[in-house]
Amino acid sequence: VQEGQTGHRFTFGLWTVGNPGRDPFGGPTRAEVDPVDSVHKLAELGAWGVSLHDDDLIPMGSSDAEKEKIVARFKDALDQTGMGVGMATTNLFGHPAFKDGAFTSNDRGIRRAAIGKAMRFIDVAAQLNAEVYVFWGGREGTEVGVAKDPRDALERYREAINLLSHYVKDQGYDLRFAMEPKPNEPRGDIFLPTVGHALHFIETLDHPEMVGVNPEFAHETMAGLSFHHAIGHALWANKLFHIDLNSQRIGRYDQDFRFGAEDLKETFLLVRLLERAGYSGPLHFDAHSYRNENAEGVWDFASGCMATYRALAEKAAHFDSLPEVQEALEGASQPELAVSSAGGDSADTLKAEATWENLDQLATRGFYNEKLDQILVEVLLGVR
Ligand code: GCO
Ligand code: MN
Ligand code: MN
Ligand code: MN
Repeated sequence: VQEGQTGHRFTFGLWTVGNPGRDPFGGPTRAEVDPVDSVHKLAELGAWGVSLHDDDLIPMGSSDAEKEKIVARFKDALDQTGMGVGMATTNLFGHPAFKDGAFTSNDRGIRRAAIGKAMRFIDVAAQLNAEVYVFWGGREGTEVGVAKDPRDALERYREAINLLSHYVKDQGYDLRFAMEPKPNEPRGDIFLPTVGHALHFIETLDHPEMVGVNPEFAHETMAGLSFHHAIGHALWANKLFHIDLNSQRIGRYDQDFRFGAEDLKETFLLVRLLERAGYSGPLHFDAHSYRNENAEGVWDFASGCMATYRALAEKAAHFDSLPEVQEALEGASQPELAVSSAGGDSADTLKAEATWENLDQLATRGFYNEKLDQILVEVLLGVR
Protein backbone atom coordinates (compact mmCIF):
# COMPACT_ATOMS: atom_id res chain seq x y z
CA VAL A 1 0.00 0.00 0.00
CA GLN A 2 1.44 3.37 -1.01
CA GLU A 3 1.80 6.44 1.21
CA GLY A 4 -0.62 9.26 0.53
CA GLN A 5 0.83 12.25 -1.33
CA THR A 6 1.71 14.13 1.83
CA GLY A 7 1.97 11.23 4.25
CA HIS A 8 -1.63 11.90 5.24
CA ARG A 9 -3.69 8.77 4.68
CA PHE A 10 -6.90 10.21 3.23
CA THR A 11 -9.77 7.82 2.69
CA PHE A 12 -13.35 8.17 1.43
CA GLY A 13 -16.32 5.90 1.99
CA LEU A 14 -17.70 4.31 -1.17
CA TRP A 15 -21.04 5.71 0.01
CA THR A 16 -19.64 9.26 0.20
CA VAL A 17 -18.39 9.85 -3.33
CA GLY A 18 -21.07 7.38 -4.42
CA ASN A 19 -23.83 9.42 -2.75
CA PRO A 20 -26.46 10.04 -5.45
CA GLY A 21 -27.94 13.09 -3.72
CA ARG A 22 -31.01 11.44 -2.20
CA ASP A 23 -32.58 13.25 0.77
CA PRO A 24 -35.80 12.78 2.77
CA PHE A 25 -37.62 15.09 0.35
CA GLY A 26 -36.35 13.93 -3.01
CA GLY A 27 -34.76 11.13 -4.96
CA PRO A 28 -31.32 10.89 -6.48
CA THR A 29 -29.90 13.77 -8.54
CA ARG A 30 -26.83 11.84 -9.70
CA ALA A 31 -26.17 8.36 -11.07
CA GLU A 32 -24.83 5.58 -8.84
CA VAL A 33 -21.04 5.14 -9.07
CA ASP A 34 -19.35 1.78 -9.61
CA PRO A 35 -17.11 1.16 -6.54
CA VAL A 36 -14.26 0.15 -8.85
CA ASP A 37 -14.51 3.52 -10.66
CA SER A 38 -14.43 5.31 -7.28
CA VAL A 39 -11.24 3.45 -6.35
CA HIS A 40 -9.54 4.51 -9.59
CA LYS A 41 -10.73 8.11 -9.44
CA LEU A 42 -9.78 8.55 -5.76
CA ALA A 43 -6.32 7.07 -6.42
CA GLU A 44 -5.88 9.61 -9.20
CA LEU A 45 -6.86 12.44 -6.84
CA GLY A 46 -4.24 11.36 -4.28
CA ALA A 47 -6.30 9.51 -1.69
CA TRP A 48 -4.68 6.67 0.23
CA GLY A 49 -7.70 4.39 0.35
CA VAL A 50 -11.39 3.76 0.72
CA SER A 51 -13.82 2.46 3.28
CA LEU A 52 -17.03 0.57 2.76
CA HIS A 53 -20.17 -1.05 4.11
CA ASP A 54 -20.95 -4.60 3.03
CA ASP A 55 -23.96 -3.39 1.03
CA ASP A 56 -21.96 -0.64 -0.76
CA LEU A 57 -20.00 -3.35 -2.52
CA ILE A 58 -22.23 -6.41 -2.46
CA PRO A 59 -25.84 -5.62 -3.36
CA MET A 60 -28.41 -7.10 -0.98
CA GLY A 61 -29.67 -10.44 -2.26
CA SER A 62 -26.39 -11.45 -4.00
CA SER A 63 -25.58 -15.15 -3.97
CA ASP A 64 -22.32 -16.38 -2.43
CA ALA A 65 -20.88 -16.96 -5.91
CA GLU A 66 -21.79 -13.41 -7.01
CA LYS A 67 -20.32 -12.04 -3.81
CA GLU A 68 -17.02 -13.82 -4.44
CA LYS A 69 -16.80 -12.37 -7.95
CA ILE A 70 -17.58 -8.85 -6.78
CA VAL A 71 -15.01 -8.97 -3.99
CA ALA A 72 -12.32 -10.36 -6.32
CA ARG A 73 -12.96 -7.57 -8.88
CA PHE A 74 -12.80 -4.95 -6.13
CA LYS A 75 -9.58 -6.42 -4.72
CA ASP A 76 -8.07 -6.26 -8.21
CA ALA A 77 -8.86 -2.54 -8.38
CA LEU A 78 -7.17 -2.02 -4.99
CA ASP A 79 -4.12 -3.98 -6.09
CA GLN A 80 -3.88 -2.13 -9.41
CA THR A 81 -4.04 1.30 -7.77
CA GLY A 82 -2.17 0.52 -4.54
CA MET A 83 -5.17 1.78 -2.58
CA GLY A 84 -5.82 0.50 0.95
CA VAL A 85 -8.97 -0.14 2.96
CA GLY A 86 -9.05 2.13 6.01
CA MET A 87 -12.16 0.61 7.47
CA ALA A 88 -15.00 -1.71 6.72
CA THR A 89 -18.40 -1.80 8.40
CA THR A 90 -21.81 -3.42 8.32
CA ASN A 91 -24.93 -1.78 7.01
CA LEU A 92 -27.26 -2.46 9.93
CA PHE A 93 -29.67 0.34 9.08
CA GLY A 94 -30.85 0.02 5.48
CA HIS A 95 -32.80 -3.23 5.49
CA PRO A 96 -36.33 -2.81 6.86
CA ALA A 97 -35.69 -5.65 9.34
CA PHE A 98 -33.47 -3.21 11.25
CA LYS A 99 -36.22 -0.62 11.74
CA ASP A 100 -36.27 -1.24 15.51
CA GLY A 101 -32.49 -1.58 15.80
CA ALA A 102 -29.98 -4.31 14.99
CA PHE A 103 -27.88 -5.40 18.01
CA THR A 104 -30.49 -3.72 20.23
CA SER A 105 -33.70 -4.63 18.43
CA ASN A 106 -36.31 -5.94 20.83
CA ASP A 107 -36.66 -8.93 18.50
CA ARG A 108 -34.09 -11.61 19.32
CA GLY A 109 -34.20 -13.05 15.79
CA ILE A 110 -33.25 -9.68 14.36
CA ARG A 111 -30.40 -9.29 16.83
CA ARG A 112 -29.03 -12.72 15.86
CA ALA A 113 -29.24 -11.92 12.14
CA ALA A 114 -27.49 -8.58 12.75
CA ILE A 115 -24.59 -10.30 14.52
CA GLY A 116 -24.36 -12.84 11.70
CA LYS A 117 -24.38 -10.11 9.05
CA ALA A 118 -21.47 -8.39 10.80
CA MET A 119 -19.56 -11.71 11.01
CA ARG A 120 -20.05 -12.28 7.29
CA PHE A 121 -18.51 -8.95 6.38
CA ILE A 122 -15.75 -9.19 8.97
CA ASP A 123 -14.57 -12.18 6.89
CA VAL A 124 -14.45 -9.95 3.79
CA ALA A 125 -12.82 -7.09 5.72
CA ALA A 126 -10.00 -9.44 6.72
CA GLN A 127 -9.63 -10.53 3.10
CA LEU A 128 -9.35 -6.86 2.05
CA ASN A 129 -6.79 -6.13 4.80
CA ALA A 130 -9.03 -3.50 6.38
CA GLU A 131 -7.37 -1.84 9.37
CA VAL A 132 -10.45 -1.09 11.40
CA TYR A 133 -14.00 -2.44 11.62
CA VAL A 134 -16.49 0.27 12.52
CA PHE A 135 -19.76 0.01 14.43
CA TRP A 136 -22.10 2.91 13.84
CA GLY A 137 -25.38 2.19 15.59
CA GLY A 138 -27.63 4.31 13.41
CA ARG A 139 -30.78 2.37 14.26
CA GLU A 140 -29.74 1.45 17.81
CA GLY A 141 -32.11 3.74 19.64
CA THR A 142 -35.71 4.77 20.12
CA GLU A 143 -38.37 7.31 19.37
CA VAL A 144 -40.52 5.84 22.15
CA GLY A 145 -38.40 5.67 25.27
CA VAL A 146 -40.83 3.42 27.13
CA ALA A 147 -40.41 0.68 24.49
CA LYS A 148 -36.87 -0.31 25.56
CA ASP A 149 -35.15 -0.43 28.92
CA PRO A 150 -31.87 1.32 28.07
CA ARG A 151 -30.00 -0.97 30.48
CA ASP A 152 -31.11 -4.06 28.54
CA ALA A 153 -30.28 -2.39 25.26
CA LEU A 154 -26.74 -1.60 26.42
CA GLU A 155 -26.34 -5.15 27.69
CA ARG A 156 -27.31 -6.54 24.27
CA TYR A 157 -25.05 -4.00 22.54
CA ARG A 158 -22.18 -5.17 24.72
CA GLU A 159 -23.03 -8.82 24.09
CA ALA A 160 -22.84 -8.25 20.31
CA ILE A 161 -19.51 -6.41 20.39
CA ASN A 162 -18.06 -9.03 22.75
CA LEU A 163 -19.20 -11.90 20.50
CA LEU A 164 -17.71 -10.19 17.46
CA SER A 165 -14.41 -9.48 19.21
CA HIS A 166 -14.16 -13.17 20.18
CA TYR A 167 -14.98 -14.09 16.59
CA VAL A 168 -12.13 -11.92 15.24
CA LYS A 169 -9.67 -13.42 17.68
CA ASP A 170 -10.82 -17.00 17.01
CA GLN A 171 -10.38 -16.47 13.27
CA GLY A 172 -6.93 -14.97 13.83
CA TYR A 173 -7.85 -11.74 12.01
CA ASP A 174 -5.73 -8.63 12.52
CA LEU A 175 -8.61 -6.19 12.94
CA ARG A 176 -9.45 -3.56 15.51
CA PHE A 177 -12.93 -2.22 16.23
CA ALA A 178 -14.07 1.38 16.47
CA MET A 179 -17.41 2.50 17.92
CA GLU A 180 -18.95 5.52 16.17
CA PRO A 181 -21.21 7.64 18.40
CA LYS A 182 -24.08 9.80 17.15
CA PRO A 183 -26.77 11.55 19.20
CA ASN A 184 -29.74 11.15 16.81
CA GLU A 185 -30.72 10.60 13.17
CA PRO A 186 -32.07 8.27 12.00
CA ARG A 187 -33.41 7.37 15.49
CA GLY A 188 -34.93 10.00 17.74
CA ASP A 189 -32.30 9.10 20.35
CA ILE A 190 -29.38 6.79 19.65
CA PHE A 191 -27.55 4.68 22.26
CA LEU A 192 -23.88 5.69 22.68
CA PRO A 193 -24.72 9.29 21.69
CA THR A 194 -21.29 10.88 22.27
CA VAL A 195 -17.60 10.02 22.34
CA GLY A 196 -17.72 10.05 26.14
CA HIS A 197 -20.50 7.46 26.27
CA ALA A 198 -18.60 5.24 23.82
CA LEU A 199 -15.34 5.50 25.78
CA HIS A 200 -17.07 4.30 28.90
CA PHE A 201 -18.88 1.48 27.07
CA ILE A 202 -15.54 0.23 25.68
CA GLU A 203 -14.07 -0.14 29.16
CA THR A 204 -16.84 -2.62 30.03
CA LEU A 205 -16.02 -5.00 27.12
CA ASP A 206 -14.23 -8.36 27.20
CA HIS A 207 -11.42 -7.04 24.98
CA PRO A 208 -11.28 -3.28 25.58
CA GLU A 209 -7.76 -3.14 24.11
CA MET A 210 -9.04 -4.00 20.62
CA VAL A 211 -11.87 -1.46 20.64
CA GLY A 212 -11.52 2.30 20.13
CA VAL A 213 -13.71 5.11 18.86
CA ASN A 214 -14.52 6.57 15.46
CA PRO A 215 -15.66 10.10 16.30
CA GLU A 216 -17.35 12.18 13.61
CA PHE A 217 -17.18 15.96 13.33
CA ALA A 218 -20.86 16.27 12.45
CA HIS A 219 -22.08 14.01 15.24
CA GLU A 220 -20.51 15.80 18.22
CA THR A 221 -21.43 19.11 16.60
CA MET A 222 -25.08 18.05 16.27
CA ALA A 223 -25.00 17.50 20.03
CA GLY A 224 -23.65 21.04 20.44
CA LEU A 225 -20.27 19.77 21.64
CA SER A 226 -16.71 20.69 20.68
CA PHE A 227 -15.29 18.12 18.28
CA HIS A 228 -11.79 19.33 19.12
CA HIS A 229 -12.40 18.39 22.76
CA ALA A 230 -13.95 15.04 21.85
CA ILE A 231 -10.83 14.19 19.87
CA GLY A 232 -8.69 15.38 22.74
CA HIS A 233 -10.52 12.99 25.05
CA ALA A 234 -10.18 10.07 22.63
CA LEU A 235 -6.44 10.75 22.14
CA TRP A 236 -5.92 11.09 25.88
CA ALA A 237 -7.54 7.67 26.33
CA ASN A 238 -5.42 6.20 23.49
CA LYS A 239 -8.64 5.28 21.73
CA LEU A 240 -8.57 7.27 18.52
CA PHE A 241 -8.55 4.31 16.12
CA HIS A 242 -10.30 6.11 13.25
CA ILE A 243 -11.94 9.46 12.52
CA ASP A 244 -14.86 10.64 10.35
CA LEU A 245 -14.19 14.11 8.97
CA ASN A 246 -16.85 16.38 7.53
CA SER A 247 -18.52 19.59 8.60
CA GLN A 248 -21.76 20.61 10.22
CA ARG A 249 -23.54 23.56 11.78
CA ILE A 250 -24.81 23.23 15.35
CA GLY A 251 -28.54 22.70 15.71
CA ARG A 252 -29.17 21.38 12.20
CA TYR A 253 -30.03 18.03 10.67
CA ASP A 254 -27.07 15.77 9.83
CA GLN A 255 -25.44 17.80 7.05
CA ASP A 256 -22.26 15.86 6.14
CA PHE A 257 -20.71 18.83 4.34
CA ARG A 258 -17.29 18.92 2.71
CA PHE A 259 -14.49 19.07 5.31
CA GLY A 260 -13.96 22.67 6.35
CA ALA A 261 -17.15 23.98 4.73
CA GLU A 262 -18.33 25.31 8.12
CA ASP A 263 -16.58 26.46 11.30
CA LEU A 264 -13.02 26.82 10.03
CA LYS A 265 -11.77 27.74 13.49
CA GLU A 266 -12.94 24.48 15.13
CA THR A 267 -11.63 22.64 12.06
CA PHE A 268 -8.26 24.38 12.44
CA LEU A 269 -8.10 23.39 16.13
CA LEU A 270 -8.91 19.81 15.19
CA VAL A 271 -6.24 19.56 12.50
CA ARG A 272 -3.65 21.23 14.73
CA LEU A 273 -4.41 18.69 17.46
CA LEU A 274 -4.24 15.68 15.13
CA GLU A 275 -0.95 16.90 13.67
CA ARG A 276 0.58 17.61 17.07
CA ALA A 277 -0.54 14.24 18.40
CA GLY A 278 0.99 12.48 15.40
CA TYR A 279 -2.28 10.70 14.63
CA SER A 280 -1.36 8.24 11.89
CA GLY A 281 -4.65 6.41 11.32
CA PRO A 282 -6.87 6.92 8.30
CA LEU A 283 -8.19 10.47 7.78
CA HIS A 284 -11.59 9.43 6.59
CA PHE A 285 -14.02 11.81 4.94
CA ASP A 286 -17.56 10.77 5.77
CA ALA A 287 -19.30 13.51 3.86
CA HIS A 288 -20.97 14.05 0.53
CA SER A 289 -21.27 16.57 -2.20
CA TYR A 290 -24.16 19.07 -2.17
CA ARG A 291 -27.29 17.68 -3.77
CA ASN A 292 -27.19 20.31 -6.52
CA GLU A 293 -23.89 19.01 -7.88
CA ASN A 294 -23.48 16.64 -10.80
CA ALA A 295 -20.91 13.85 -11.13
CA GLU A 296 -18.09 16.32 -11.77
CA GLY A 297 -18.93 18.28 -8.63
CA VAL A 298 -18.44 15.13 -6.57
CA TRP A 299 -14.74 15.08 -7.47
CA ASP A 300 -14.46 18.81 -6.68
CA PHE A 301 -15.90 17.87 -3.29
CA ALA A 302 -13.38 15.06 -2.77
CA SER A 303 -10.38 17.18 -3.81
CA GLY A 304 -11.65 19.99 -1.62
CA CYS A 305 -11.76 17.80 1.51
CA MET A 306 -8.12 16.79 1.09
CA ALA A 307 -6.91 20.25 0.04
CA THR A 308 -8.51 21.87 3.09
CA TYR A 309 -6.99 19.33 5.46
CA ARG A 310 -3.51 19.90 3.97
CA ALA A 311 -3.94 23.68 4.01
CA LEU A 312 -5.00 23.64 7.65
CA ALA A 313 -2.07 21.38 8.57
CA GLU A 314 0.22 23.97 6.96
CA LYS A 315 -1.57 26.82 8.73
CA ALA A 316 -1.20 24.99 12.04
CA ALA A 317 2.55 24.57 11.54
CA HIS A 318 2.82 28.24 10.51
CA PHE A 319 0.81 29.34 13.55
CA ASP A 320 3.09 27.44 15.92
CA SER A 321 6.22 28.78 14.24
CA LEU A 322 5.30 32.44 14.91
CA PRO A 323 7.27 34.03 17.78
CA GLU A 324 4.22 36.12 18.74
CA VAL A 325 2.21 32.91 19.16
CA GLN A 326 4.81 31.43 21.48
CA GLU A 327 4.79 34.70 23.41
CA ALA A 328 1.00 34.74 23.63
CA LEU A 329 0.94 31.09 24.73
CA GLU A 330 3.39 31.98 27.49
CA GLY A 331 1.17 34.93 28.41
CA ALA A 332 -1.76 32.53 28.68
CA SER A 333 0.38 30.19 30.84
CA GLN A 334 -0.49 27.49 28.33
CA PRO A 335 2.75 25.49 28.92
CA GLU A 336 2.11 25.56 32.67
CA LEU A 337 -0.93 23.32 32.20
CA ALA A 338 1.47 20.50 31.37
CA VAL A 339 3.14 20.80 34.79
CA SER A 340 1.90 18.70 37.71
CA SER A 341 -0.32 20.79 40.01
CA ALA A 342 0.86 19.41 43.33
CA GLY A 343 4.35 18.37 42.27
CA GLY A 344 4.50 16.04 45.27
CA ASP A 345 3.90 18.81 47.81
CA SER A 346 2.10 17.93 51.01
CA ALA A 347 -1.57 18.53 51.85
CA ASP A 348 -0.46 21.07 54.45
CA THR A 349 1.41 23.08 51.82
CA LEU A 350 -1.59 23.06 49.48
CA LYS A 351 -3.95 24.04 52.29
CA ALA A 352 -1.63 26.87 53.27
CA GLU A 353 -1.91 28.27 49.71
CA ALA A 354 -5.71 28.36 49.89
CA THR A 355 -5.90 31.63 51.79
CA TRP A 356 -8.28 34.43 50.72
CA GLU A 357 -5.29 36.76 50.42
CA ASN A 358 -3.60 34.39 48.00
CA LEU A 359 -6.78 33.92 45.93
CA ASP A 360 -7.28 37.71 45.76
CA GLN A 361 -3.71 38.05 44.55
CA LEU A 362 -4.13 35.23 41.95
CA ALA A 363 -7.36 36.83 40.70
CA THR A 364 -5.57 39.93 39.45
CA ARG A 365 -3.87 38.29 36.48
CA GLY A 366 -5.14 38.14 32.89
CA PHE A 367 -4.88 35.12 30.62
CA TYR A 368 -3.99 36.81 27.34
CA ASN A 369 -6.78 34.96 25.52
CA GLU A 370 -7.88 38.01 23.50
CA LYS A 371 -4.42 38.42 21.99
CA LEU A 372 -3.96 34.69 21.43
CA ASP A 373 -7.30 34.18 19.71
CA GLN A 374 -6.91 37.29 17.56
CA ILE A 375 -3.58 35.99 16.27
CA LEU A 376 -5.28 32.71 15.42
CA VAL A 377 -8.04 34.55 13.55
CA GLU A 378 -5.47 36.61 11.63
CA VAL A 379 -3.51 33.49 10.70
CA LEU A 380 -6.73 31.92 9.40
CA LEU A 381 -7.53 35.10 7.46
CA GLY A 382 -4.07 34.96 5.91
CA VAL A 383 -3.03 38.41 7.14
CA ARG A 384 -0.34 37.01 9.44
C1 GCO B 1 -24.11 8.70 9.38
C2 GCO B 1 -22.87 7.91 9.79
C3 GCO B 1 -22.47 6.86 8.80
C4 GCO B 1 -21.41 5.92 9.31
C5 GCO B 1 -21.20 4.79 8.37
C6 GCO B 1 -20.04 3.93 8.73
O1 GCO B 1 -24.32 9.75 9.97
O2 GCO B 1 -24.83 8.28 8.51
O3 GCO B 1 -21.82 8.80 9.99
O4 GCO B 1 -22.04 7.49 7.61
O5 GCO B 1 -20.21 6.59 9.51
O6 GCO B 1 -22.34 4.03 8.33
O7 GCO B 1 -20.15 3.40 9.96
MN1 MN C 1 -22.51 10.88 10.10
MN1 MN D 1 -19.73 8.53 10.08
MN1 MN E 1 -24.75 11.36 7.79
